[in-house]
Amino acid sequence: MISQQTLSILLLISSASALPIFNSKNGNSAYNANKPDQSHMFPFLAGSAPYFPYPISDNYYKIDTAIPETCTLKQVQSLGRHGERYPGYGEGETIKEVYETIAKVSKKNLADSEYLSFMVDPTYEFFLSTNASLELLTTTTDSINGVLNPYAGELTAKKFGTAFAEKYQSIIGDKLPIFTASNLRVFKTASYFSDMLNQYLGTEIDMQVLNELEQTGGNSLTPSETCNVWDVIVHQDIIDDVDDTYLKNIASRLNNGTKGLNLTSDDASVLFTWCAYEIDAAGYSPICEIFTQEELVWNSIADDVYGYYVDGPGNPLIKSVGSVFFNASVELLKNPPKEYNAYVSFAHDVNIQHLVAAIGLFDDEIPMTSDFDFSNTNNKKSWIVPMGARIQLENYECGNSSYVRYILNDAVIPIPKCSTGPGFSCELNDFYKYYDTRMSNITDFATACNITNLPTYQSFYWDYQNVNYTAPLAVGSY
Ligand SMILES: *[C@@H]1O[C@H](CO)[C@@H](O)[C@H](O)[C@H]1NC(C)=O
Ligand SMILES: *[C@@H]1O[C@H](CO)[C@@H](O)[C@H](O)[C@H]1NC(C)=O
Ligand SMILES: *[C@@H]1O[C@H](CO)[C@@H](O)[C@H](O)[C@H]1NC(C)=O
Ligand SMILES: *[C@@H]1O[C@H](CO)[C@@H](O)[C@H](O)[C@H]1NC(C)=O
Ligand SMILES: *[C@@H]1O[C@H](CO)[C@@H](O)[C@H](O)[C@H]1NC(C)=O
Ligand SMILES: *[C@@H]1O[C@H](CO)[C@@H](O)[C@H](O)[C@H]1NC(C)=O
Ligand SMILES: *[C@@H]1O[C@H](CO)[C@@H](O)[C@H](O)[C@H]1NC(C)=O
Ligand SMILES: *[C@@H]1O[C@H](CO)[C@@H](O)[C@H](O)[C@H]1NC(C)=O
Repeated sequence: MISQQTLSILLLISSASALPIFNSKNGNSAYNANKPDQSHMFPFLAGSAPYFPYPISDNYYKIDTAIPETCTLKQVQSLGRHGERYPGYGEGETIKEVYETIAKVSKKNLADSEYLSFMVDPTYEFFLSTNASLELLTTTTDSINGVLNPYAGELTAKKFGTAFAEKYQSIIGDKLPIFTASNLRVFKTASYFSDMLNQYLGTEIDMQVLNELEQTGGNSLTPSETCNVWDVIVHQDIIDDVDDTYLKNIASRLNNGTKGLNLTSDDASVLFTWCAYEIDAAGYSPICEIFTQEELVWNSIADDVYGYYVDGPGNPLIKSVGSVFFNASVELLKNPPKEYNAYVSFAHDVNIQHLVAAIGLFDDEIPMTSDFDFSNTNNKKSWIVPMGARIQLENYECGNSSYVRYILNDAVIPIPKCSTGPGFSCELNDFYKYYDTRMSNITDFATACNITNLPTYQSFYWDYQNVNYTAPLAVGSY
C-alpha cells in the first residue's frame, strides 16, 4: 500500500502539471499561450464544461470532507459521470454548422470583427475538424494544438482515481469489481480511474460492463433506457417560457459587430455548447469570450429549468427511475456483499440526476418557474453534473453508531433534515426512515415504467461473480 504522504505528493504533482497550457514557455501551444483561465465560467455552461467542485464549498458552509477523526470508514458507494468529452454526434453537427456559417463571412470582415477575429487567426484551430472524435472522452494525446489539455477527461478520471485511492484505501482491498455502462467514454473513464487504484494500491480491478443500449430493465446503470413510458417532457410550457432575450442580444451584438453575419437566436444558443466543448478539448475557447456575465447566468438558468423538468425532481417519473439506484444503495448498507466494501460505478450525467432526484438532495418541493430567480441555487443542474461529476455515499462508525452522508463533487451535501451526526451525517436508522418516507411518495420503477418481464432492481453488485457483465462497448450513448 502506498503511504498517505506519497499520495499527497502525487496529487500535488498531478495538479501542478495542469498549469503549462496558459504559459507561453510551453512550446507547441501557440494559440493557447497566455490565454486567460476560463474556469470561472464552468458553473454557467450547463454541465458541458470541465469538472469543478460543487460551488457552495468554495464560498461558505464548507464542511470538511475528511472522515471525522473519531470515526471508522465502513463502506463507500460511488456513482460517477464520464470525464470531459467531445460533443455527441448531434451536438457536434450543430456546432459545426454554426462554425461554417461564421466561416462563410469574408476574411476581411472577420478580421475587422470586434468579436470574431480569432476565426482568421492562423494559429487558431477549430476543435471539430473531423467526426472521429465525436462522443469520445478527451485525452492528453488528442488535444488540439498539441497541448497538454489540463481539462482532458483522461486527467479528470485519473485525478478522481488518485483521490479516491487516497481517501478510501482502508476499504478498497486487493481485488475490486468496477461497474461501468457500456458507452466507450464511460468505460474509458472507469479504466483510467481503475489504473490509479491499481497503480497506488495494487488493487486488481475486475471490470464489469453493463449494457446501456439494450433494454435490460432495472439491473442496469442506465435504467431510464428501459422506461418506455418516459417520452413526455413535463412542463414544456415552463421550459419554453424562459426569457430568451439574452440569445437575441448575443445574435444582434455579433451581427452588428461583424459585417455580413446574420446569426439567429438558435445559433447563439449553440455558441454556449461550442464554448464548453472547446474548453474540454483544447483547454481554452475564444468563443467563450463573447459572452457577458449576465448572458452566462441566463444560459445557466435556462438549463436549470430544462434539467429540472426533464431529468430532475420536477418530473415524477424521474424519481421512480432514480429509485432503482436509491434502493440498491440502501440494500448495500443493509445486506452488503461479503467480499468487498467499495461499490464503484460509472454512467452518465442523467443517471446521477435521477439518483439525486430520488434521494431529494436538492428537492425543496417548490416547483421551478420560468422567471429568473437569482437566489434559487437549490437545483443547479450544472453544479450537480459537470463533466466528471461523482457522488459518494460514505458510511462510517463512530462509537457504537453508524452514519451515512453524501459527498457530491467534493462537497458534503447534507441530507435534508438528517444531518446531526459527525461530519453532518445522518444516523443509519434515521437514514432508513428517511428512505422509507421518501419512497412512500415515489411510485416504484416497475409500476411507473411498466416493466413486466425484465429485472426491476440492481443485482449486479451481488451477482457479478456468477453473471458475466460483458456488454460490447459502443461509441454512441443511449
Ligand atoms: C461528418 O458527419 C456528417 C453527418 O453525419 C457528414 O455530413 C460529414 O460529411 C462528415 N464529415 C466528415 C469530414 O467526415
Ligand atoms: C452597432 O455597432 C456600432 C459600431 O460597431 C455601435 O456604435 C452601435 O452602438 C451598435 N449597435 C447596436 C444596436 O449594438
Ligand atoms: C437575416 O436573416 C433573416 C432570416 O433568417 C432575414 O429575415 C433577414 O433579412 C436577414 N438580415 C440580413 C441583414 O441579411
Ligand atoms: C430493492 O432491491 C431489493 C434487492 O436488492 C429487491 O428485493 C427489492 O424488490 C427492491 N425494491 C424495489 C421497490 O424495487
Ligand atoms: C457501546 O456498547 C457497549 C455495549 O452495548 C457499551 O458497553 C459501551 O459503553 C458503548 N460504547 C459507546 C462509546 O457508546
Ligand atoms: C409527497 O409529494 C408531494 C408532492 O411533491 C409533497 O407535497 C408531499 O409533501 C410529499 N410527501 C412526503 C411524505 O414526502
Ligand atoms: C405495458 O407493457 C405491456 C407489455 O409489456 C403492454 O401491453 C402495455 O400496453 C403497456 N402499458 C402501458 C401503459 O404502456
Ligand atoms: C464468465 O466468463 C468467464 C471467462 O470468460 C468464464 O470462465 C465463465 O464460465 C463465464 N461465466 C458464466 C456464468 O457465463
